[in-house]
Amino acid sequence: MLYRDGDRLASRTGALMAAKITGRATPEVLAAYAVGARPRPGRPVLDIGCGRGASTLALTRALPGSRIVAIDASGAMLRATRARLEQTGAAATAAQADFHHLPLADGSTALTVAAFCLYHAPDPRRVLSEIVRCLHPDGTVILATKSADSYASLDRLVARAGLDPDAERRTGLYGAFHSANMRDVADHALTVRHVHHEVHRFRFRDLAHTAAYLATSPKYRLPEGLAGDPDALAHQLRSVLPDGPVETSSVVSYLIGTAPH
Ligand SMILES: C[S@@+](CC[C@H](N)C(=O)[O-])C[C@H]1O[C@@H](n2cnc3c(N)ncnc32)[C@H](O)[C@@H]1O
Repeated sequence: MLYRDGDRLASRTGALMAAKITGRATPEVLAAYAVGARPRPGRPVLDIGCGRGASTLALTRALPGSRIVAIDASGAMLRATRARLEQTGAAATAAQADFHHLPLADGSTALTVAAFCLYHAPDPRRVLSEIVRCLHPDGTVILATKSADSYASLDRLVARAGLDPDAERRTGLYGAFHSANMRDVADHALTVRHVHHEVHRFRFRDLAHTAAYLATSPKYRLPEGLAGDPDALAHQLRSVLPDGPVETSSVVSYLIGTAPH
């Protein structure tokens, strides 16, 4: 299970964020779109696939007074989200649910955010149908995903280092729902109002910094002993590659939709 350990996700995300040189902070962009949607007070605002709650926290700051409900299938992620909500005193509830079966009544939600999670569904259209079932006719849906070729230079590096020779051939995490198919997929369930693509660039300081991201990436099949161990992975990388900065990129895509007419 990809999301059974909040600390591992936090350290991988931390390494990636420390490497970022261009691209806006995604929770803040989502929150700005949420404010623009003017969700009707009193109706629930959902953050599905909330992960460690970065987007949930941004929504609570941007929409004070809204009834925000964070949803995730992973108990570990929900524990992390609840802890962060408690630390900041943010008002939101967190519920465990599969996004194919949302615990909400038909036509009840003012706004649903599904950021960087629909690609985990075998068929994201089914999740979108469920989101639309719960959506009030005046409601808004905000989706975010990344390009299918995100971080491709890291795949090359992992393959070149002989750690995972198939790294470049394997379908990435974003195969089912990515920048290039998001509009088509969303079109089946929503009226698409706006799509925006933004290039994010990253520069890892050296191989140790790169290893801090790679060691727990779900994409790679790293040799036993290196998976999950950034120091051992950095040591191995340095033994086969020249040390120095490593650059990579990803396109982050946002879509705003409303209920179908
Ligand atoms: C990358 S995290 C999303 C982070 C968060 N939305 C953000 O923008 O910071 C993806 C999340 O989707 C959740 N997820 C995957 N499959 C799910 C499902 N079937 N139902 C609900 N959540 C799911 C995972 O547990 C994980 O927490």
